[in-house]
Amino acid sequence: MRFLTILCGVTGALGATSWIAPGAVWYDTDGQKIDAHGGGIVQRGDTFYWVGQSASSNESPMMYSSTDLLNWKNLGKQASSVTGLWRPKIAKPNGSFWLYGQQDRYVLSLKSAQMVGGYSTVKKVHLPPSDYSYSDTGMYYDEASTTWYLLTSADHNTVQINKINSDGTVGARASTLTGGAYEAPGLFYAGGVYFLIVSGKTGWRSNPNKVFTATSLSGPWTGGSNIAPESEKTYNSQNTYELTIKGSQQTTYLYMGDAWDSKGSTGSNYVWLPMAVSPSAKTVTLQYHAMWKVDVNTGVVSYPTAKKRYATRDAQVSRRASSRNSAGSSHKIKRGDEIAFHNVTGTGSRQWVSLLYTANEPEAGQAYIVVNDEVRPVNISDLNSRAGYHGVVPVQLVLKPGDVNTLRFGVSGASGFEVSVDGIEFYEED
Ligand code: GLA
Repeated sequence: MRFLTILCGVTGALGATSWIAPGAVWYDTDGQKIDAHGGGIVQRGDTFYWVGQSASSNESPMMYSSTDLLNWKNLGKQASSVTGLWRPKIAKPNGSFWLYGQQDRYVLSLKSAQMVGGYSTVKKVHLPPSDYSYSDTGMYYDEASTTWYLLTSADHNTVQINKINSDGTVGARASTLTGGAYEAPGLFYAGGVYFLIVSGKTGWRSNPNKVFTATSLSGPWTGGSNIAPESEKTYNSQNTYELTIKGSQQTTYLYMGDAWDSKGSTGSNYVWLPMAVSPSAKTVTLQYHAMWKVDVNTGVVSYPTAKKRYATRDAQVSRRASSRNSAGSSHKIKRGDEIAFHNVTGTGSRQWVSLLYTANEPEAGQAYIVVNDEVRPVNISDLNSRAGYHGVVPVQLVLKPGDVNTLRFGVSGASGFEVSVDGIEFYEED
């Protein structure tokens, strides 16, 4: 048992993943951090294939597969000699498998005879008809016309939707979205309406992503409402893809976004959330949940049940830890302060722990947690700025079995950085 505990602590990721936790670090089935940013998903039979840019391999396309959208197996790099390929997306226009992405502001296409592996470069093009240069790519499969469409954000603030021909070449524009500085396009269809989700152009920093709608892929696109409350900046994420799960009981529309670190590198994480979609009001609203999942067979979304809460009220506060709020339920702490939760019950293997806190300025500092006498703190916010955007921040920790654990919560960063801590919470594992 002791050996197992140590082993878990080292890999940090043994055991199945039971929830989607937006903004948390996600591990693959080998215990490695998932590295598929700016990606998209295609489903073949029971299997979902997720392709994205690998930040640890100079933006080479990396693929993972899963049958439950929770446990992802790394299928490796798909074209190891290809680097600098941003936002890769897969399509299957006619028998062959194609991968499209942006390289040096061109659209690069790759082709393989099979879904997994063996992709080689076909063409690097600027698209017809305007010969603009291109940045973020997206992908949409239109069931009605059994046609794939490549989405791009081009020069002159033009988000462009181009048909992919049956020979894999990118064809004429179906429509454009102009009149704003938008990028990171994704598209889905619900109730007779096409929904086009785009991000503003703020580099790696998150912004309020917006939705435009049309009743035909030829446009015109109208709207532009935020998909989450303005101040949430899309829960600190940027759109990359929309996935539709048509279950036996309901259809669930899933937003896939990236929570970039300051330069889109390996510290970046993923924010996936279910969307509330109204074809009549032509709105999309991200439903924020710190932990959730969708049953890929029924389409039903579910959430964990809280099991045990350790309130800050009962915790030991050290150093110069400052003001308790009037209700006595939370503590504001600054750099150098720590809150210790004692006698915390652990299972001996990886478990979800939700930290309940908010930050005054999410990007001005970092929160961390130290488990027992471990030397290295687990950093919970600098990689994703979750503090302040999320309020409930789940992390996966390995604690000792029994009521024997001490978790110390602290902050570092600018002197004005302040977090308000309510407590920590454990969930029923399912
Ligand atoms: C935008 C794009 C990202 C990346 C950054 C670089 O945010 O959507 O994919 O290219 O710009 O600044």
